[in-house]
Amino acid sequence: MSEKLSNDLNIFNSLAQSLIKDEERGVVNQIDPNELLKIFNISLKENPISDEELKESLNHLILNTPKTSGNLFFNQLFGGLNSKAVLGDLLAVILNNSMATYKISGPMVEIEKEIIRKIAAMISYPETSAGTIPTGGSMSNFMALVMARDKKNPESKYSGDSNKLICYSSRSSHYSMDKNASFSGIGRDNVRYIDTNKKGEMISSEITVQIEEDIKNGLTPFFINATIGTTVMGAIDPIIEIAEICKKYNIWLHLDGAYGGSLIFSEKYKHLVEGIELSDSFCFNPHKTLGTPISTSILLVKEGGNLLNSFSNKANYLYQTDNDEYNLGQTSFECGRRNNALKFWTLWKSLGTKGISEMVDHSYSLADTARKYIKNNSDYTIYSFDNSLSICFNYKDLDPKKLCTDLYLKNKLMVGYGEHKGETFIRLVTINRENTSENILNFFKILESFTENNVE
Ligand SMILES: Cc1ncc(COP(=O)(O)O)c(C=O)c1O
Repeated sequence: MSEKLSNDLNIFNSLAQSLIKDEERGVVNQIDPNELLKIFNISLKENPISDEELKESLNHLILNTPKTSGNLFFNQLFGGLNSKAVLGDLLAVILNNSMATYKISGPMVEIEKEIIRKIAAMISYPETSAGTIPTGGSMSNFMALVMARDKKNPESKYSGDSNKLICYSSRSSHYSMDKNASFSGIGRDNVRYIDTNKKGEMISSEITVQIEEDIKNGLTPFFINATIGTTVMGAIDPIIEIAEICKKYNIWLHLDGAYGGSLIFSEKYKHLVEGIELSDSFCFNPHKTLGTPISTSILLVKEGGNLLNSFSNKANYLYQTDNDEYNLGQTSFECGRRNNALKFWTLWKSLGTKGISEMVDHSYSLADTARKYIKNNSDYTIYSFDNSLSICFNYKDLDPKKLCTDLYLKNKLMVGYGEHKGETFIRLVTINRENTSENILNFFKILESFTENNVE
């Protein structure tokens, strides 16, 4: 095994180097998806192939796969990689533990617990808090919803009867709310979508109106999902106002910080999440803002017992040594769970909290650079607001959907569009902290020269 692995790691190294050198060639040369099987050696055959042939096929594939870590990729709420996090993740792959028990993950358990402890302290959660590292933000939100359900209606996890429970989330919140309501037995029809203001922040007075109406109709409000960094506009819901509503009506407050929650690291910006300690649960995704490979999401719950209550299960084929405190499968959704802690720990250990804080501040300063450029140029219209990594704009009244698609098809840039309050616009995200302000100005330069040369 070790000889084979060592040989294949040499192949890996050579492929990885060819990928790194290729970054100059843009994000990707778009290929018609119907042509993929003709162009690439993808089809699986009866007979084995040589290492050389395998390497060639892999090289062809990877050089034609979109490069999300280069400085022309602005399309998604992730981008760029921190190399120390990559190092940690590669080791996690080779170790191939599962985080279910101490017996099979050893000291990795404490790596995960240390991350949870540090985040808990940063957001002033009590010592009784707990956390886990699920497979992503959607899963973190799901787990929070299930814990809130089980707390409000302890019978529902046995009887499945939870359809009088009502949850609240803004119209600008992430689509996982809808799916999670369905998966948890709450039901999509029992999510109340609350209006947002022009910045994209949930209007708290409207939550109260809706709650009163639901109570009048014999329903039970139990969960509010507030967002720290909405997916399109990057808006932050008014945490303190919403926390007061939760207190008054005995409702679980979950803060979905998948996009913006890494603000907790920043001395300069953490005031934007004032009141975070009033929540019952909070999640954020280092794979979005902090450059750890997908997926890394961290979920904290103020009263740790809720995690055990909803996610522990007896299984004597699995839990054979140690106690629940070290058998992390008792507080997670998955059975075999990837070690997603090590990559974030490796990054954090190498940069220190200070280094992460600088990373966050840098991303926000790149956003300031972009906003300043747009505001100083009358060919642009801006739709988003300060303190957000989403810069939403249009250029010279050009159709944003067409412009984004053309830039992709011609391999100039990769950027997406979004919608808010009936407007459609380009959404530039400055989430890749490996970028410099020159990279951001270069984005505009490319966009402008492309449109000049491509007006129909
Ligand atoms: C606000 C918000 N919440 C949750 C998610 C989902 O996170 P994941 O993609 O890790 O499931 C996203 C993804 O963009 C998001 O923007």
